[in-house]
Amino acid sequence: MLPCNAAFLRLLFIHRRHHRWPLIFLLLCLILYLSVSGYLEEFLSWFLSIFYSTSSHVSAPRVLTVPIPPFLLSPASACSSPPFLLILVSSTPSHRDRRDAIRQTWGSLTSSTASSSLTLFVLAVPKSPDERAALMHEAVTHRDIIQANFTDSYRNLTLKTITGLTWALEKCHGAKYLLKTDDDVFVNTVFLTEFLRKGSGLQYMGRLHWHVSPSRDPDSRHYVSEELYGGNYFPPYCSGTGYILSHEAAARLLEQVRSGPWPAVEDVYVGILAQAAGITPRHVAKIAGSMSVPHSTCCYRTMFTSHGLTPKGMQEAWNMLKEADSHWCPSLALLYCRLFGQLVEKGGDGVH
Ligand SMILES: *[C@@H]1O[C@H](CO)[C@@H](O)[C@H](O)[C@H]1NC(C)=O
Ligand SMILES: *[C@@H]1O[C@H](CO)[C@@H](O)[C@H](O)[C@H]1NC(C)=O
Repeated sequence: MLPCNAAFLRLLFIHRRHHRWPLIFLLLCLILYLSVSGYLEEFLSWFLSIFYSTSSHVSAPRVLTVPIPPFLLSPASACSSPPFLLILVSSTPSHRDRRDAIRQTWGSLTSSTASSSLTLFVLAVPKSPDERAALMHEAVTHRDIIQANFTDSYRNLTLKTITGLTWALEKCHGAKYLLKTDDDVFVNTVFLTEFLRKGSGLQYMGRLHWHVSPSRDPDSRHYVSEELYGGNYFPPYCSGTGYILSHEAAARLLEQVRSGPWPAVEDVYVGILAQAAGITPRHVAKIAGSMSVPHSTCCYRTMFTSHGLTPKGMQEAWNMLKEADSHWCPSLALLYCRLFGQLVEKGGDGVH
């Protein structure tokens, strides 16, 4: 590698002037490739740890310092043989079709299958009694719903995440990794578990957002008042459409939870907790964040997550993936998927 680099640099700088341009062009192409594919950001995110003071952590009792509403539904038996990866899907009562699509597709893989993941939905209490009854029925049928006693609303999304993570640590502590995602996200669970098996230690990973300032417009969905967060910029955080926490990282994060109210933007709050806990977020290029990748086999094969799928799209993506074993994908697929992906406004789990 090194001699090769040296030769490359010599070519670049010592060669006669008019011979340099093709090389500079190649270099620019390389930089363009790395930045569009997300690898440059992935590389840069390693340096974030410089700004994070990893606390010399004394192993404290793992309890949430702030009481959260009690669980109404707790599918603890689903976790009797703990999965490697526990996937917590933030959902809302009216999204039955989306939950069913996930159950029939990537969420159908269980602890007993090769990927060893378990998918559970996190909800709160619907406002209407009819919806409450329907959800209860759904929970009895599928035994995959975690529910805590608070009103299901967009403003309570942060509490939903705290609830899900707390449930995971209390009732499913054998799970090595947690993935928090939404009900309009396609997850390539097999590929993601393979990736996670290579890692270890404290992990907080996803599609990183840097240098985002709080919205001070009270009419915005993402409004955060000065009282809730006074700074001009949030710390770097991973998009709520899909972030991964190792068990230990989730435990340390929850220790930092202070009493509410919390900013309604749950992913931002997780970033704030991570900073307080000294856990550096890491960018993962194959997590799409709010991006919806082109509806093609190679993208669902290449990416760990993709956002903004309808239940029908979810079904199609799953079928593509199932038939993809013999399908050849070029190594530039990631570049293609990111370049032609579309940003979809996050809000899949909100109340519309
Ligand atoms: C849930 O909360 C409601 C209102 O806050 C309360 O009336 C009810 O008793 C609670 N249910 C449980 C099981 O804690
Ligand atoms: C959040 O949940 C709590 C507890 O159920 C409830 O009192 C509050 O109104 C909810 N907030 C919103 C904005 O729905």
